[in-house]
Amino acid sequence: IHHNFLIGAISLAWMESALWSVKGGNKLVCIGLISSSKAEVIPATVLSIEPKIRPRPTGEQVKLYQVTYNTTSGLTGDTYDIVVIAAPLSHRMANITFKNLDPPVPEFPNPYHQTVTTLVHGRLNASFFGYQDSSDFPLGTIFTTENPKLFINSVGVVSPVEDDGDEGKPLTPLAVWKVFSEEVLTKQQLHLLFSSYDSVKMKKWLAYPRYSPPEKCPPIILHDRIYYLSGIERAASAVEMNAIAAKNAALLAYHRWYGNTDKIDQEDLHEKLKTEL
Ligand SMILES: *[C@@H]1O[C@H](CO)[C@@H](O)[C@H](O)[C@H]1NC(C)=O
Ligand SMILES: *[C@@H]1O[C@H](CO)[C@@H](O)[C@H](O)[C@H]1NC(C)=O
Ligand SMILES: *[C@@H]1O[C@H](CO)[C@@H](O)[C@H](O)[C@H]1NC(C)=O
Repeated sequence: IHHNFLIGAISLAWMESALWSVKGGNKLVCIGLISSSKAEVIPATVLSIEPKIRPRPTGEQVKLYQVTYNTTSGLTGDTYDIVVIAAPLSHRMANITFKNLDPPVPEFPNPYHQTVTTLVHGRLNASFFGYQDSSDFPLGTIFTTENPKLFINSVGVVSPVEDDGDEGKPLTPLAVWKVFSEEVLTKQQLHLLFSSYDSVKMKKWLAYPRYSPPEKCPPIILHDRIYYLSGIERAASAVEMNAIAAKNAALLAYHRWYGNTDKIDQEDLHEKLKTEL
């Protein structure tokens, strides 16, 4: 029950205007993190991962992973000690082939739900929502229930990042509205929703997993030193969940690399953390 409640809470949270947002775009969080970690970024699509054994000059054998990726200048790759995958594994998204791994990486179903986001600058059609007089229209956010006759999931006004909250502020009829739907909205549908509009931006995306509880989360350790973060999305999908998964995978990879087995799956960790705080 907790599991479904968490998913439900998160799926509602993302439609609220109170979601945190960064001026200039939330992508600045990633850009900032990459810059402060001094990571080297190779823009490419990973195609396959394969184990390799290479001798050191001392004669000792080292186990590495050969990662093959496709860049704008063609196929290339490199070898790595540890691989962390932070992308949803599936043929439609991160389509990575695991070659010659023993034991093999199992296939796990990872269906995602398509959401269409349409940003519209215009005036909402109050009469479509049952209001005779558009000046009476009081709503900044409208959710729908599951109904095949409805072509939208929600519509909500988008506030600028600088707004400290739109509580109490009167709604202006002309605004930027964010519409979520299952399918791309047709011209006719837009003309029903809006009495007038001048700009439309549409984005189709695989927004979050299609859940069918009870969910089975994919493994975090796919192979000796291959870690998989995005499996946590099957428990709940949000950037915060991925941040938690990333931190845990980094700690796990570190402790396993240095053989700190006492630091992994500590039974009394919960108690220890309580007294630490
Ligand atoms: C590599 O990327 C290019 C450009 O996107 C694409 O045309 C090509 O099919 C890709 N190659 C492979 C092996 O995926
Ligand atoms: C996924 O990759 C495999 C192997 O490279 C390829 O045969 C297949 O067409 C790809 N699937 C999709 C949906 O791109
Ligand atoms: C607004 O909604 C009403 C009621 O659904 C509809 O008849 C009308 O065509 C819609 N569009 C405009 C531009 O008024």
